[in-house]
Amino acid sequence: MTHFLDIHTTDKAALRSIIDTAQAMKTARNSRPKGTPDDDQPLAGRMVALIFEKPSTRTRVSFDVGVRQMGGQTMILSGSEMQLGHGETIADTARVLSRYVDLIMIRTFEEATLQEMAEYASVPVINGLTNRTHPCQIMADVMTFEEHRGPIAGKKVVWSGDGNNVFASFAHAAGQFGFDLTFTGPPPLDPEPACLDYAAKMGHPVTIERDPAKAVIGADLVVTDTWVSMHDPQSAKERRHNQLRGYQINQALMDQARPDALFMHCLPAHREDEVTSAVMDGPASVIWDEAENRLHAQKAIMRHCLGL
Ligand code: CP
Ligand code: NVA
Repeated sequence: MTHFLDIHTTDKAALRSIIDTAQAMKTARNSRPKGTPDDDQPLAGRMVALIFEKPSTRTRVSFDVGVRQMGGQTMILSGSEMQLGHGETIADTARVLSRYVDLIMIRTFEEATLQEMAEYASVPVINGLTNRTHPCQIMADVMTFEEHRGPIAGKKVVWSGDGNNVFASFAHAAGQFGFDLTFTGPPPLDPEPACLDYAAKMGHPVTIERDPAKAVIGADLVVTDTWVSMHDPQSAKERRHNQLRGYQINQALMDQARPDALFMHCLPAHREDEVTSAVMDGPASVIWDEAENRLHAQKAIMRHCLGL
């Protein structure tokens, strides 16, 4: 069973193959008239369940469109409307869904939910974000960096802000793709030790630099994310804004990075909080390519999982 649960638990060669496949599929797709199906229809006759226990725009639409472009069909399921949200166990849900569908993508809260789904499903399971990681996003981010700047290995990536789930997948990717990762943020919002330990074990220890102006010096890529994630209590909003205000990505900060540095954000963004509109809409920003590449990266991930 080939699940796609996290970047650090996926074989390095498979990760490279996914990025290369995604880029090839993107090139083929974008050279065709809009609105036409892909040349090959690897998912013809297949059904994919997309389960959301949290809101989503990009993940929901890109998975749905990606499956359809490859000839498959989707079923979008809201956790709260399933028996799953009313006491049925994850294991039983996984067993039942596996009798109906060929692939399950789940966006959930606890990592344990994802792991249990994967353990009991007899079809592949894809992680569409948990409180701890967001691997599909970072596959799209690596793809986006490489299409603009070539191999990411050896490059300097700087994350400014909350050491959250998206950061953790960046730390996993640093280990697997071999880039240098710097975290800048306040100590209470440091990343989970496990992702830092993983990057260090892989020979790419994450640099922690509290001063954002120093952190971004020499950066090839500057990244941030929302200051309050979906799993964070709204009551923490004011405190987090106070803690993170100094870590906003603005033009003055981007000016400290390399002149050709790129800016990325997984979106949704909170303009003028974690990033200014001037940077989001400025020449360094590749956020719309990044969002588009969710589609191509996930199509390649689904092919990988189904061996197609
Ligand atoms: N980046 C991302 O996962 O966006 P959504 O929450 O809209 O899916
Ligand atoms: N860190 C954010 C990412 C959203 C795509 C969250 O978990 O809400």
